Amino acid sequence: MKNILVTGGAGYIGSHIVRDLGENSYNPIILDNLSEGHREACAGKEFVLASINDTEALDAVFSEKNIDAVMHFSAFAYVGESVTNPEKYYLNNLSATVNLLSVMRKYDVQKFIFSSSCATYGNPVYIPMDEQHPQNPINPYGRTKFMVEKIIDDYRAAYGLRYIALRYFNAAGAHPDGSIGESHRIETHLIPLVLKAISGEKDRISILGSDYPTPDGTCIRDYIAVTDLAAAHRAALELLLSGGESACVNLGTEHGYSVKEVISACEEVTGKKAPVITAPRRAGDPPELVAKTSLAKKLLGFTAKKTDIRDIISNAWQWEQTRRY
Ligand code: UFG
Repeated sequence: MKNILVTGGAGYIGSHIVRDLGENSYNPIILDNLSEGHREACAGKEFVLASINDTEALDAVFSEKNIDAVMHFSAFAYVGESVTNPEKYYLNNLSATVNLLSVMRKYDVQKFIFSSSCATYGNPVYIPMDEQHPQNPINPYGRTKFMVEKIIDDYRAAYGLRYIALRYFNAAGAHPDGSIGESHRIETHLIPLVLKAISGEKDRISILGSDYPTPDGTCIRDYIAVTDLAAAHRAALELLLSGGESACVNLGTEHGYSVKEVISACEEVTGKKAPVITAPRRAGDPPELVAKTSLAKKLLGFTAKKTDIRDIISNAWQWEQTRRY
């Protein structure tokens, strides 16, 4: 069994990848400082409580375990916070990632899956966005992901690191068995907020801007099921393990839904009305982000299975009603 170190494996996306690896004959070893993650999200899995800037802890893991590859998810991901407190983002997402890469070099671990983002593109010049789309991130969060992409490419050229950087569009949903799902300490994402407004946990959902240049005036996003993301990560890992070359690859569905369409779909799935108000735009929101995904198909043999947003919302709703963390 291959040992895969999963940093941030107790977080939303990381925990779904850990589950998928465990079910597919890999041995995931989670390293997480639980600043955002949840211990309950990785029950029964090998777990190290540590930060990626803790060189001693990393040394202990890499010297005791024969690590075959690293999947790196531990990063802060609040766009707004990255604008008001960029240092937090540069210290963790950037500098601590370089520390992780140094320890990997020391132990000659050369395979790296990086959790990147469509936020590295910035404002769209054309839609759908392929991997050649210009990268001009418009906030510190996006810049940290962009810079790490550049750093790992320098490590590839100089030290022989092989990586796949996966640029997610909007991760959404939960595991269909209801045991793991999205639980952020501060929730800013559309689907969980709409569902919380429907369940009564929140008073209402605000549509953040209804004057965008889109058919119904609200922003369009490409929502990909977190379980589809997990399958794509495993395909990327398999590519690296079988000698594949480094690449940056979009993960999305090629289908965009507007904020109003997402709210309607949530109402349809739950059979309940959402209390909605219209509010001003949120700074830094591009009107439309939709992925071109032909490279994922070509390189990873991956296409998203859940392309109907209602399937994704249905899993999120189940999670919302029964979640334990
Ligand atoms: N939105 C609302 N009301 C809310 C919350 C969100 O109308 O209460 C809107 C946003 O304005 C946006 C859309 O819903 O148009 C989706 O917003 P999310 O916050 O769910 O997702 P983002 O598209 O902002 O963020 C995602 C990832 C980030 C990543 C970003 C790239 O979560 O990590 O895509 O643009 F950086």
